[in-house]
Amino acid sequence: MLVRSGLLFTTLIFFAACNSQIKDTNGNVAAVDSARLIDADNEPGNWMSHGRTYSEQRFSPLQQIDENNVKNLGLAWYFDLQTQRGIEATSIVVDGVMYVTSAWSIVHALDAQSGAPLWSFDPEVAKSKAEHACCDVVNRGVAVWQGKVFLGALDGRLIALDAKTGSVNWSVATLDPTLPYTITGAPRVVKDKVLIGNGGAEYGVRGYISAYNVTDGSLAWRFYTVPGNPAQGFENAAMAMAAQTWNGRWWELGGGGGTVWDSMAYDPALDLLYFGVGNGTPWNQELRSPGGGDNLFLSSIVAVKPDTGEYVWHYQTTPGETWDYTATQHMILADMKIEGELRQVLMQAPKNGFFYVLDRTNGELLSAQPFIDLNWATHVDMTTGRPVEVAAARYLEAPYVVFPSYLGGHNWQPMSFNPETGLVYIPVLDFPANYGQPEAFRYVPGSANTGTDGIVGSLPDNQAERDAMRALMQGRLLAWDPVAQQEAWRVEQRGPWNGGTLTTAGNLVFQGAAHGQFVAFSADSGKDLWHFPTQTGVVAAPITYEINGQQYVSVNVGWGGAFALVFGEFVQSESLPNVSRVLTFKLGADATLPPVNWQRRVHFNPPPLTADKNILHKGYAAYQDRCMGCHGLNAVSGLLVPDLRGSSYLWDEREWDRVVMQGSLSERGMPAMGAYIDSDESEAIRAYVTQQAHRGATLATQHSK
Ligand code: HEC
Repeated sequence: MLVRSGLLFTTLIFFAACNSQIKDTNGNVAAVDSARLIDADNEPGNWMSHGRTYSEQRFSPLQQIDENNVKNLGLAWYFDLQTQRGIEATSIVVDGVMYVTSAWSIVHALDAQSGAPLWSFDPEVAKSKAEHACCDVVNRGVAVWQGKVFLGALDGRLIALDAKTGSVNWSVATLDPTLPYTITGAPRVVKDKVLIGNGGAEYGVRGYISAYNVTDGSLAWRFYTVPGNPAQGFENAAMAMAAQTWNGRWWELGGGGGTVWDSMAYDPALDLLYFGVGNGTPWNQELRSPGGGDNLFLSSIVAVKPDTGEYVWHYQTTPGETWDYTATQHMILADMKIEGELRQVLMQAPKNGFFYVLDRTNGELLSAQPFIDLNWATHVDMTTGRPVEVAAARYLEAPYVVFPSYLGGHNWQPMSFNPETGLVYIPVLDFPANYGQPEAFRYVPGSANTGTDGIVGSLPDNQAERDAMRALMQGRLLAWDPVAQQEAWRVEQRGPWNGGTLTTAGNLVFQGAAHGQFVAFSADSGKDLWHFPTQTGVVAAPITYEINGQQYVSVNVGWGGAFALVFGEFVQSESLPNVSRVLTFKLGADATLPPVNWQRRVHFNPPPLTADKNILHKGYAAYQDRCMGCHGLNAVSGLLVPDLRGSSYLWDEREWDRVVMQGSLSERGMPAMGAYIDSDESEAIRAYVTQQAHRGATLATQHSK
């Protein structure tokens, strides 16, 4: 016993010394491999993969920082990420080095103890690629493995960097660059393969996940999530099975969708890789697969063999999805006692608002309960494993206000599971969206093709009605008991779109918020224990690590993402603009942030409004289809891209045309829209935005009286 603890002690000293040299014992950097990752709990000082462990629990056994002393947490260092769009990355920390990504897929390696930069790598993604990034030009982080850092760049390249220097080791195109795919998700590495999916189902693509060999980037396998044109045959039996669940000619409408844009998990004992599949293209099932059908594997959790990509099982959360209800949300693996029996489970709280507990050996549904008040289904039938829908929610006959919205009851912001409290901490969104059949649907290659209408509706002129809409926009931190399938506690927040969560053995949950606070709660009760003002909205998830006996908590801050782009009206009243940074904390530290000087008021100076009602209606419709995704609902921007109501271009037809139709600002992220709209529509949009500017100016004066 004595000998063993003595040995352990020497080992600890030894590792501590190595940590300060930012290398492992052999002088290797980022020397993560299967053995280390499977035994990640033996070295809790590191955060070696996206969800810390393959189970993606985002729970840390570190407990130097706990519920009693967390009040002494202070800023140790910060690092400016030098971009101004959404920051969604989870950092990786291995042997004293932090690897973090910013908007536009830029990677930085930092000394995790001091924040000193070691190297950075900019893949120089063409800014015009923003046109296919539905939900901001974000990146959720890298994977590291045996001296390499793997990055999925927004334009679809998978790039292997030398972890010591940041130089490119290999780079492959994971997708056809002529199609509107993007990559925003973090790769994972299982054995000798790096796994990466893609996004783009809003625009029209066929989803898949690919595995590349870590050494040279050669393609090992690819699994499509939806079938292609049956006339061309199927890649495998899973696709033949999936094709039975589709109608119509979906492959001509962009390819069906089903992108694998975020979550994965791996069980080394079962040797199963799990991934979540996204929504359909278009969202509206009646257009995508007329007459219905389940449309496999949309909105499903799929298990495959990681060596070959061979299908093993699937569970579909939303058969025949028609609301953008992706099942790409974070999945957590855990072993827990359910009805007296120890079960190997997979948990997910996807967009559709139900919390699912599956048996991860075979995909059997163990339980499902709503974690928000949803109204598209009454419950999940435990015999069939299917949701029992409210028929009208399919909006076939009439528009329907559906809870939750297309951003879901929970989106990509990672949840976490604390085995000591037995609770899952979910960053919940709670607001509805109105869905209806479009007046006419035309598939426009490369552009947004949701096939829904009425989603948006115009903002009421009347302040009381606007306030009522505002009151619907809710968000909370929810502690959920996955065994009892019920709420343990909740903290209501000022609105939706708050950060991902981290939980620790110090009985803590850490989460950043949209209104610019980084907060520590007690994990068992939700008591608010500590705050730090971040100067910007936080959406990414924190991590924790230890170097030389000192525990750190780190979070990447910087407002952004889909909600930030679209819900401008809400954002302008509640949120803080983007300041993109890494903030790292330790006990007793007292560093401060430099003062910020952001501009959030729109200066209205519109030209006179001369357009008639028909033109304004046409402008409204074209704006909501083609501009809203970036410039915000009703032309109110969410502080990431210009608020067009304040634009001087409104005064000048020719300059407007140059920007909008010809793409004179495309190298700054404003796409040339001439491929998707004609000059009449562009002019109608100018008129509509002018009208919105007059309305905004009137409301602003009423408000200041
Ligand atoms: C993919 C996101 C995206 C879409 C879609 C988009 N824009 Fe933009 N737009 C931007 C960004 C980013 C900028 C800021 C570019 C810069 O930094 O100069 C911008 C700038 C502009 C400007 C210049 C504003 C100013 O005062 O500087 C105008 C005008 C404009 N957009 C109009 C439109 C219209 C009209 C549409 C729809 C037909 C549209 N945009 C669609 C991202 C987008």
